[in-house]
Amino acid sequence: MIQVRKTAVVTGGAAGIGLEIVRHLAAEGMAVLAADRDGDACARATDSLAAYKDHVRVIVADIGTPDGARAAVDGAVAAFGRLDLLCNNAAAHPFEMVEGHSLDSWRETFRVNVDGTMLCSQAALPHMRDQGGGSIVNIGSISGVLSYAGGAAYAASKAAVAMFTKTLALEAGPDGIRVNCICPGTIRHRSPRGDEDKPTHIPLGRAGTAADVAYLVSFLASDAAGYMTGAVITLDGGATAGRARVSKRRAP
Ligand SMILES: NC(=O)c1ccc[n+]([C@@H]2O[C@H](COP(=O)([O-])OP(=O)(O)OC[C@H]3O[C@@H](n4cnc5c(N)ncnc54)[C@H](O)[C@@H]3O)[C@@H](O)[C@H]2O)c1
Repeated sequence: MIQVRKTAVVTGGAAGIGLEIVRHLAAEGMAVLAADRDGDACARATDSLAAYKDHVRVIVADIGTPDGARAAVDGAVAAFGRLDLLCNNAAAHPFEMVEGHSLDSWRETFRVNVDGTMLCSQAALPHMRDQGGGSIVNIGSISGVLSYAGGAAYAASKAAVAMFTKTLALEAGPDGIRVNCICPGTIRHRSPRGDEDKPTHIPLGRAGTAADVAYLVSFLASDAAGYMTGAVITLDGGATAGRARVSKRRAP
């Protein structure tokens, strides 16, 4: 019998990195509510998380709306009695060049990535303050500092998430609420095609995994990270540390 100690909400928790975060936290004994707007993905996630069904809930909710954000956060408090971790992971990631960017997809990206992060945090703060503290972990991206053509909405939204993190850390710190942001590089969570070259721009020589992200979320939620807040943490195998693979002879 797993001893439930802490509780969490993971947005976008029915697929991809979010699902792995849910599985990882549940395996560690946390009670977890996963909120995702994709009903089919929620049904699949419920099946795949059956081993943890006594302390995992999966609900359909659009966290980019005030009602959806409250449904996720208040649902976890109603089910588990408290909220120790909010992981804002849900995101939209369109690929569009600025010149022809649809205003609808621009706004949708900000609605999910930025509004959703703010609305879920807003819903979580009173619960965390009343219980004497908590941890909010926002999933940003290295695209928030190192963009790519076609990623204007996504990159700008992730830069916003990083600055939102710092601002909320300033506001919530006195209530014992820590707020941090993880900025992953390339994370492979779908089946590899098998024909992919070893990435030469990543010093560690591989893409990240969803488990790499989940371990860091778990650490940031733990007492071991008790003095960390306002941190924007790169998790990219060294991809943005500098130029990889410059030979000694050619180096300046
Ligand atoms: N995969 C990568 O390489 C990578 C790299 C850097 C950062 N990230 C970040 O990691 C996080 C997860 O990425 P992923 O690759 O697993 O994405 P994904 O698209 O595979 O999964 C995102 C999940 O969020 C859900 N979602 C989207 N909008 C929602 C909404 N309004 N309400 C509720 N749920 C919603 C989707 O249904 C989906 O299940 C995102 O924040 C992403 O920006 C991913």
